[in-house]
Amino acid sequence: MKGVILAGGLGKRLYPLTKITNKHLLPIYDKPMIFYPLQTLINAGINDILIVTGGNHAGDFLRLLGNGREFGLKHLNYTYQEGEGGIADALALAEHFSDYEKIVVILGDNVIGGNIVQAVKDFRKQKEGAKILLKEVPDPERFGVPEIVDDKIIRIEEKPKIPKSKYAVIGIYMYDGKVFDIIRTLKPSQRGELEISDVSNTYIREGKMTHDILEGWWSDAGTFESLLRTNNLVAQGGANKKNL
Ligand code: G1P
Repeated sequence: MKGVILAGGLGKRLYPLTKITNKHLLPIYDKPMIFYPLQTLINAGINDILIVTGGNHAGDFLRLLGNGREFGLKHLNYTYQEGEGGIADALALAEHFSDYEKIVVILGDNVIGGNIVQAVKDFRKQKEGAKILLKEVPDPERFGVPEIVDDKIIRIEEKPKIPKSKYAVIGIYMYDGKVFDIIRTLKPSQRGELEISDVSNTYIREGKMTHDILEGWWSDAGTFESLLRTNNLVAQGGANKKNL
């Protein structure tokens, strides 16, 4: 299975920090942010990885990561997102790379304390469709929120005012090769972006979505509060413990 790290966007919620660098290159404790999602994929046995970046500082990813030798990789792939079309628009750039194999997509600002080894193993066995990971959070209205009936997700709402559950859909998504056809059918949301939640909702409507609850802590780092929180979590407990 191949992996895709989405590390584009202008990171406007973190201005002025992101005026002079890409959000995913900001420090999380002792490493640049992008190191964590990269290690998460590698820990799950995924070595063929594409980084989708964008904005004004894309060249810095090459300088920092090169071909991923520090991570034991032979090669890393890069592509560039023009403009700010949203997460699903960035993912569309992985079509050629994916070769229509199953992929694991991770948002470049998502950091976890544990690993996704079991979920990836299970998705390798899943015949088709998609798999997402959920985590209970105190503030679900900040995220994609699943509505769950009889242990099945019936819909995901993006940043709902009144969340239908206490879970967030975390930024790690497993999709089959049909995902690119699905993205072509999407319309921009109210914030003018192609939403990843709309991709997942298509799989849900087709009855092809499975989910797990992530073990261990999870944090994104796209706002000042969550950036600080992620730094503290990593400083206290470490991230990407192998637990293989
Ligand atoms: C994005 C997704 C959201 C998901 C979150 C996880 O939100 O749209 O569904 O829960 O990542 O980090 P954004 O960072 O674009 O606000």
